[in-house]
Amino acid sequence: MIFDTHTHYDDHKYDDDREAVLASLSSVGIQRVVNVAADMHSVDTTLQLAQTHDFVYAALGVHPDGVGALTEADMDRLKELALKYAYRNAADPKVPGLNKVVAIGEIGLDYYWDESPRDVQKQWLERQLQLAEEVDLPVIIHSRDAAKATYDILKEHRTGEGTGIVHCFSYSREMAREFLNLGYYIALGGVTTFRNGRTAKEVAAYVPSDRLLLETDCPYMAPVPYRGKRNYSGYLTHVVDVIAELRGTTREEIEEMTWENARRLYRLND
Ligand code: NI
Repeated sequence: MIFDTHTHYDDHKYDDDREAVLASLSSVGIQRVVNVAADMHSVDTTLQLAQTHDFVYAALGVHPDGVGALTEADMDRLKELALKYAYRNAADPKVPGLNKVVAIGEIGLDYYWDESPRDVQKQWLERQLQLAEEVDLPVIIHSRDAAKATYDILKEHRTGEGTGIVHCFSYSREMAREFLNLGYYIALGGVTTFRNGRTAKEVAAYVPSDRLLLETDCPYMAPVPYRGKRNYSGYLTHVVDVIAELRGTTREEIEEMTWENARRLYRLND
């Protein structure tokens, strides 16, 4: 059983066959996925996917590439939706409905693409971290070419075991240790299978067994032998094999520990 902690099945690349792809996942061992919003439009499409598929959960937030047009009204809306549809409400008989929101994300800093000015990216990362504290949900952090700036902001906010995930982790083992010390989990995917993915392989071997997560970031980041193609959760088996070899263990053990880690981080009871 595999838990894909980071997907974008609402992406237009699935417009022709979305339902067929989602329907195929259980037959290839994928039992849970979290669909992650990246802008205010995908907040709606993410919620819709989660509410129409039992095994899909939702993360709501705005990616650093899309923060340029954000307003406080958007934050009010995110907060309202996160509170209204929080997964924890499912345990409360007084709050009926399909309650699937398990995180705020993805949020962060991207100094590789620099789609928005860096001070604007920082401002909205801080604001969305504050929002996550207000609604008491973990965060999914996107951080590219911005290790120190991201770390400096995260350490000034809520920390401790289960605060959040640094997704598609692309930094060194030393940097991984810093984020782990803040209480963050580390999510790895296709890059661990790349021939030039030496750093990701080192991190995959290094992260403690109770802090490692699997993710596709699909439709992006397809693993070898599908590199460059449209990704989907079924390809995670290739990532599992590589990580198992790097850690000197079995595929079954990697699946089991990352499954338990994802349930703990996203606070799932089912
Ligand atoms: Ni993503």
